[in-house]
Amino acid sequence: MSILMQQLQESANFIRSKSGESAEIGIILGSGLGNLANQISTEFSIEYKDIPHFPVSTVEGHTGKLILGKLGTKKVWVMSGRFHFYEGYTPQQVAYPVRVMKMLGVQTLLLSNAAGGVHPSFKVGDLMIIRDHISLFTINPLLGKNEDQLGTRFPDMSEPYSKELIQKAKEIAANHEILVHEGVYLGVTGPTFETRAEYQLIKNVGGDAVGMSTVQENIVAVHCGMKVFAISVITDLGIREEENIITHQEVLEAANAAEPKLTTLFKDLVEQI
Ligand code: HPA
Repeated sequence: MSILMQQLQESANFIRSKSGESAEIGIILGSGLGNLANQISTEFSIEYKDIPHFPVSTVEGHTGKLILGKLGTKKVWVMSGRFHFYEGYTPQQVAYPVRVMKMLGVQTLLLSNAAGGVHPSFKVGDLMIIRDHISLFTINPLLGKNEDQLGTRFPDMSEPYSKELIQKAKEIAANHEILVHEGVYLGVTGPTFETRAEYQLIKNVGGDAVGMSTVQENIVAVHCGMKVFAISVITDLGIREEENIITHQEVLEAANAAEPKLTTLFKDLVEQI
């Protein structure tokens, strides 16, 4: 067995030995979007630093806990806080928790993130369901020897985000009168926000929103056969001609303000999975 498979099994066995039960739905929460974790009736919780082989989160706004509990009537695993490439982790480390979730039996993965709005009609606080992504600006986490036990060497990426879950989410949003856009998320490494020229490039190549997470997790999830749903909160609009100074504080505040809409969506969506 490869070292990676061994480590994954050790992580998952350790978690399962403490948590007992498991869940088939996994949720990873983005910057400033961790509040959903408070809606969970927690049955088990463990800090990342206590899980063997798990990376440890360092960014402000990320608490770094894996939680098992009920969201509504559905049992879910929630990662409150994620790992980013810009923190210095390898793409494989960034995606490691997704693989641990797979070992724990997760089949459907819900992701949230804070993202910069690129589409001209987007406003701060809007939600964008990710229909597709462009990963040419990040490093592919599947580079290197393929882990055949997890998935195929050349994964198909024609439906990286489940059409069925997108449809359900749109219906839920309509029921709650929550405005949602649908669009293409362009992944970048960060940690710099984009220059004006870069925002323009992203728009020109077909990006509707831009962010520093999600893509690597999605690729690894698709590789190991999970269904994925992902949504961005638009936290800033660097694409505008004027006043495009962006701060992390502003991103966190906008994410926090929009968070209740996201919690409503995720709550109803997990009921339908
Ligand atoms: N660019 C990249 N990542 C981001 C942004 C942005 O404008 N906003 C939040 N995350």
